[in-house]
Amino acid sequence: MKRIHTILIILLLAVTYGEAKKSSDDRQMDDFITSLMKKMTLEEKIGQLNLGGVGSPKVVGSAIGLDEAIRKGLVSSVGGFDAKAAEDAQKFAVENSRMKIPLITGLDVVHGYYTIFPIPLASACSWNMPLLEESARVAADEASAFGINWTFAPMVDICRDPRWGRIAEGAGEDPCLGSRIGRAMVRGFQGDDLSKPNTLLACVKHFALYGASEAGRDYNTVSMDPVTMYNYYLPPYKAAFDEGAGSGMTSFNVVNGVPATGNKWLLTDLLRDQWKFKGFMVSDANSLAEMSEHGMGGAQRITELAMNAGLDMDMSSSLYVLCLKKAVEEKRVPLSRIDAACRRVLEAKYKLGLFEDPFRYLKNKQRQSQVLSPQNRDVARRLAAESIVLLKNSEQLLPITPPRKIAVVGPMGNVRGELLGTWSYGYSKDKMHSAYEALREALAGKCEVSYSQGANYIEDYCIYDGAFTIPTDSLIRRAIAETSDADLIIAAVGEPSSWSGEAKSRVNPSLPDCQKKMLRELKKTGKPVVVVIFSGRPLILTEEDAEFSTLVEAWHGGTMAGEALCDILLGKVCPSGKITATFPRHIGQIPIYYNHLRTGRPYSGFWATTKYVDCVNEPLYPFGYGLSYNRYTYGKPVLDKKKAKGDDDVVTLSIDITNTGKYTGKEVVQLYIGDPEASVSRPVIELKDFQKVDFAPGETKTVTFRITTGQLKFYNQDLKYDWEAGKFNISVGPNSRELQKLTMTWDK
Ligand code: NOJ
Repeated sequence: MKRIHTILIILLLAVTYGEAKKSSDDRQMDDFITSLMKKMTLEEKIGQLNLGGVGSPKVVGSAIGLDEAIRKGLVSSVGGFDAKAAEDAQKFAVENSRMKIPLITGLDVVHGYYTIFPIPLASACSWNMPLLEESARVAADEASAFGINWTFAPMVDICRDPRWGRIAEGAGEDPCLGSRIGRAMVRGFQGDDLSKPNTLLACVKHFALYGASEAGRDYNTVSMDPVTMYNYYLPPYKAAFDEGAGSGMTSFNVVNGVPATGNKWLLTDLLRDQWKFKGFMVSDANSLAEMSEHGMGGAQRITELAMNAGLDMDMSSSLYVLCLKKAVEEKRVPLSRIDAACRRVLEAKYKLGLFEDPFRYLKNKQRQSQVLSPQNRDVARRLAAESIVLLKNSEQLLPITPPRKIAVVGPMGNVRGELLGTWSYGYSKDKMHSAYEALREALAGKCEVSYSQGANYIEDYCIYDGAFTIPTDSLIRRAIAETSDADLIIAAVGEPSSWSGEAKSRVNPSLPDCQKKMLRELKKTGKPVVVVIFSGRPLILTEEDAEFSTLVEAWHGGTMAGEALCDILLGKVCPSGKITATFPRHIGQIPIYYNHLRTGRPYSGFWATTKYVDCVNEPLYPFGYGLSYNRYTYGKPVLDKKKAKGDDDVVTLSIDITNTGKYTGKEVVQLYIGDPEASVSRPVIELKDFQKVDFAPGETKTVTFRITTGQLKFYNQDLKYDWEAGKFNISVGPNSRELQKLTMTWDK
């Protein structure tokens, strides 16, 4: 008892010391910045609010070049830089500007830097938080060795529309999973101490609602009711900010009719007053100037609107530098607002340790040689393998038992850079393998592997990277001839990297006709065909699902995409990926997502219920879906009680799950809750928790979930966040469709 007492006292002292140290560090930082700001002119303060260099070598309109702007103290941070340029700019800033304030160097390190990880939509399918965090740590480690100390990530926009090219950059459609991933990425980028030279300041983007662009067309209008916004779209931003992200980026779209970049409700009332965010907010590239296009007025007016709304830093429009001084002098923007913004930016620089040593991130050049190290590649390979989703394997063609000859056929089969996905700088494209190369290497000495292009990416009449030299029909004929002696065909189809990401919306997210035609011809050969899809979004695969027994979604898997695919195809790794964005059956179903509201006429046999005349409501593959080479048998779930009471009560759900297969594998067990008696209409089900569980062959495990009132809370019509007493449906299962449902009540 005495010992416990002593331990408690030591713990208490440690916590108190930690708190005291923190506040003395904060005080030191405040004093340092206060004394620095006292010496700064208004122009220099405004200069701290200007991010130059992204997208253009000239800054401050097109008037002066970067060096001159830095010398005058008009640039706070630079973007899009290589190590040499970053070093030169930093040297120039600390030697030639009056205040010698160091620059921050920012870049989109979204899914890796040299070692590229799968696109975020893919890596989300791993549901593996420690591994995702590790990937962000590796990305930070590599990028920071080249002088970068700020990443424009994580991107946490919820998206329900695969037409939107930027669905590739986020975690998919679910706020619970999206929040956890946002947190893991912030932890990975920022590490436990931002001043360490291998960290990146995180930037949560795009605040807010960018993923809801109408019709999936990039930069388009967003229109959303508040209950939807608060319950489904805002949580991942909040989670990432709460995790300590030091900055955030506004989005291009309007929120409640006002561009996010100049939206006071969003940037001040919500973000600062309610969420207590302490870092700084930067605009998206040129989004400040684009407020004019939104119809908010001329340069001077929009600059004032944005600054008064709470935008701290302008990315690349230069309007702050051009218009803010006048605004302050004419008293349309209070000096206190400039001071607050400037202080936030200086705080970030302080926390990054840049005042102590402006070259902190540029010093350890030997770290540069460690990019693409075997360890980093191993993280990328494991994450890529866990991101791959086995969509169909009804004839058990997978895993492959190597036959005499395998033919890889298709436009995605022997490409490298196209597997890297959006936001890759291509550094590893010559240091990686295509799917065909990886397979040939993995099967060397065991089985012959051939490659044939089979089709172009897109119809011959469409222009993609110049004209096609060989028409698709000839490619198909050649492929059929070349595969005549193969025992198994791996058809590698899909989208090249450049079809997803920014400004890459597709009106019809399915396989282009020429690739479909190639698949049909391959099927006619009568040989077994494994269809591997590489894509930056969920594609509509209805025809392929009907025609083929074996479908694998391999996404854009990054530097180790080829090896990871082999790990899955050859059974070295048992598939465990599960999709985090619904795969529609038909384009007309979009937007389609699992956590939809109930409607007054849910689908039933009755003629006048919510449905289509020409298509079922169900998607092709539901949220959370993905197969394995194992079969996981779910026992009967049990709740430890059926009636709970009060805020602090806890209910436990347990379920026995058995791996009846012969592989060591992992299963993502998902917990969903439905709230059928509430003051606002609630979704049919919502993901509330999940566990990725390891299983040995034949092993049974009891998986338990703790259910608390925190998971029952939602924003009601008054945007009050609370839970309401009544009945709840608690479901558990391997995906959002195959669930076992229990009911319980929870009283106040
Ligand atoms: C525009 C994109 O929307 C944003 O995500 C990115 O961070 C910036 N450009 C900077 O590259």
